[in-house]
Amino acid sequence: ASSTDVDVGAIQPGQSIKTTFRKQPLFVKRLTPEEIAAAKKDDAADMRDPATLASRTKEGHEDILITMGVCTHLGCVPLGAAEGENKGEFGGYFCPCHGSHYDVAGRIRKGPAPLNLKVPEYSFSSDTVVRVG
Ligand code: FES
Repeated sequence: ASSTDVDVGAIQPGQSIKTTFRKQPLFVKRLTPEEIAAAKKDDAADMRDPATLASRTKEGHEDILITMGVCTHLGCVPLGAAEGENKGEFGGYFCPCHGSHYDVAGRIRKGPAPLNLKVPEYSFSSDTVVRVG
């Protein structure tokens, strides 16, 4: 199993990028203050796969969300990690295959997907570099 270093320093608030980790799509998103506030507010919402924003990010880096870019329904690559793509009704990611909507924390909020977008193992090597895997 190999790890992948991702430079998150250039990702702007509100921007997501798509890269790869172990040959699968990986999404890295920097949340805006408004998105962080909305995600925290929704921590208490009724969800299919309940999880807090804090549990899906690292302490002190709650603005960086790292998830696999693989829909937990049947494995399509959701949209929303590139400019202009449909982010779905909850502003995160949208899987067009069968209509799964993920929120800004990558949590499943609507549609057939059973689980949140998977957060891989990772750690910050510095303030701007993340080692995934
Ligand atoms: Fe994403 Fe079915 S594979 S909704």
